[in-house]
Amino acid sequence: MHYFNLNPTVAVAAVAFLSALPTAQAGLYTKSSPVLQVDAKNYDRLIAKSNHTSVVEFYAPWCGHCQNLKPAYEKAAKNLDGLAKVAAVNCDEDENKQLCGMMGVKGFPTLKIVRPGKKKGSKPVVDDYNGERTAKAIVNAVVDKINNHVKRVTDKDIDTFLSTNNETAKALLFTDKGTTSALLRSLAIDFLDVISFAQIRDKESKATELFGIESYPTLVLLPGGDKDGLVYQGEMKKPAMLKFLSQVGEPNPDPAPSKSNGDKKSEKKSEKKGKKDKKDKAPKDSSETTSTTTSESSEATEVPPTADSKPKVTEVAPPIPAITSSQALINECLHPKAHICVLAFVPAAHGETAEKALTSLSEIAFKHAHADRHLFPFFEVHTDNEAIAPVLKGLELTGEIELVAVNAKRGWWRHYEGDFGSVSVESWIDTIRMNEGPRNKLPEAVIGEVIQESDTPTGKPVETVEVKLEENVKIEVDTEPETTSWQGAEPTPEATDAPPKHEEL
Ligand SMILES: *[C@@H]1O[C@H](CO)[C@@H](O)[C@H](O)[C@H]1NC(C)=O
Ligand SMILES: *[C@@H]1O[C@H](CO)[C@@H](O)[C@H](O)[C@H]1NC(C)=O
Repeated sequence: MHYFNLNPTVAVAAVAFLSALPTAQAGLYTKSSPVLQVDAKNYDRLIAKSNHTSVVEFYAPWCGHCQNLKPAYEKAAKNLDGLAKVAAVNCDEDENKQLCGMMGVKGFPTLKIVRPGKKKGSKPVVDDYNGERTAKAIVNAVVDKINNHVKRVTDKDIDTFLSTNNETAKALLFTDKGTTSALLRSLAIDFLDVISFAQIRDKESKATELFGIESYPTLVLLPGGDKDGLVYQGEMKKPAMLKFLSQVGEPNPDPAPSKSNGDKKSEKKSEKKGKKDKKDKAPKDSSETTSTTTSESSEATEVPPTADSKPKVTEVAPPIPAITSSQALINECLHPKAHICVLAFVPAAHGETAEKALTSLSEIAFKHAHADRHLFPFFEVHTDNEAIAPVLKGLELTGEIELVAVNAKRGWWRHYEGDFGSVSVESWIDTIRMNEGPRNKLPEAVIGEVIQESDTPTGKPVETVEVKLEENVKIEVDTEPETTSWQGAEPTPEATDAPPKHEEL
């Protein structure tokens, strides 16, 4: 394809347009975010090979629905702290595109729950998460998928349990609950092959009498061999329990330790272990693509990636901005110094055709923006707005959906004729870029003077998919000070929220 060098005036307008777009580079989550940021290089080590369950968000920073999800997702990360990993992959990064493609990501955000396969060394099990985008719903879905290595032990099999591998340490939780808590399951995962975990109901009288249990829950640790058992006296919180259990054996190294747990020692250790593991951490194919796909060449690199037969990352272009008033239309495109604008005149209640036209435009804008090619701005204008009628009349536009390009400064406009599919719309856009094709004289009457309006000149991008923002997720409030502050991070107002029901036994 041939690309025309834009003249300087168009380039200026295009730069203004591009700078109005959310930046493509910066990720959505900051360093201090409770969300673990994962990329193609460490995905295997942190997620695929983890013994823990993870939820992974595949996102693009410019995607409105991803931005909407962020607060709920961060809340979910805080709630799942120590129980499961809450991670995010920025699919806008060239180096991550192949990973996102391999994971079958077709739109943003895509959430997947990844947990270890049943057999040791088997591939992780990946499930799509299509539930509500609230912290509560995400937390519950993830908790459901935390593997359970806790054996249920009854009066009948207590002897067998105690005598099997009698040198191995054992942790026994005596409880009046029938289910195994996420906290106990996560501890069993931390100590996989180090401590065997069991849960014993209060009604198992032989077992409870054997250990003289009087209250529930009670955690008993048997160090193995003929060493005396230890009864846990602390609160039923993960960091303290982890410390207690660590007396008899080290937990497996956590390559992505929890930020709040404050256990610097284990963090350091796992870093070391991480380095040791470096050799096998990155899948061969992904490291190859990171070196061949660079963002420098504007023509060769495009989103969606078309290389290989990988699923394309399509349907992800952000909607083009909507202009919501006649003055905003003047301010953006119809004042005497305005450069080229492409306007899509559509009814506010988009029909199928309007959707098609707008999608074509957003995809074209997206493609150009991501290839760093400057392009004039596209706007959606609603024809049901009475104030727009003089413009429609001036240009003699009568169709339900109309695409036009206007250049107020040069006094011309062009009318699009054809179907609204992306191929023909794009070739029309190209003729404008190349300064070809028929032009009409722009009627003086449609030009106006710039007046700054108090509210934003362009409306918010039109969102087409409903995202349920969480309102009041009721998650139990805990007043424990140690769980409300983040190591190395300022306590945030939400920090008083957090601990979920799941962090109890
Ligand atoms: C542990 O098991 C072995 C055989 O499996 C047995 O000889 C030994 O006595 C047991 N030790 C204890 C403390 O029960
Ligand atoms: C996972 O568990 C196994 C024991 O089954 C352990 O050897 C390994 O170190 C653990 N891996 C991680 C990353 O914790």
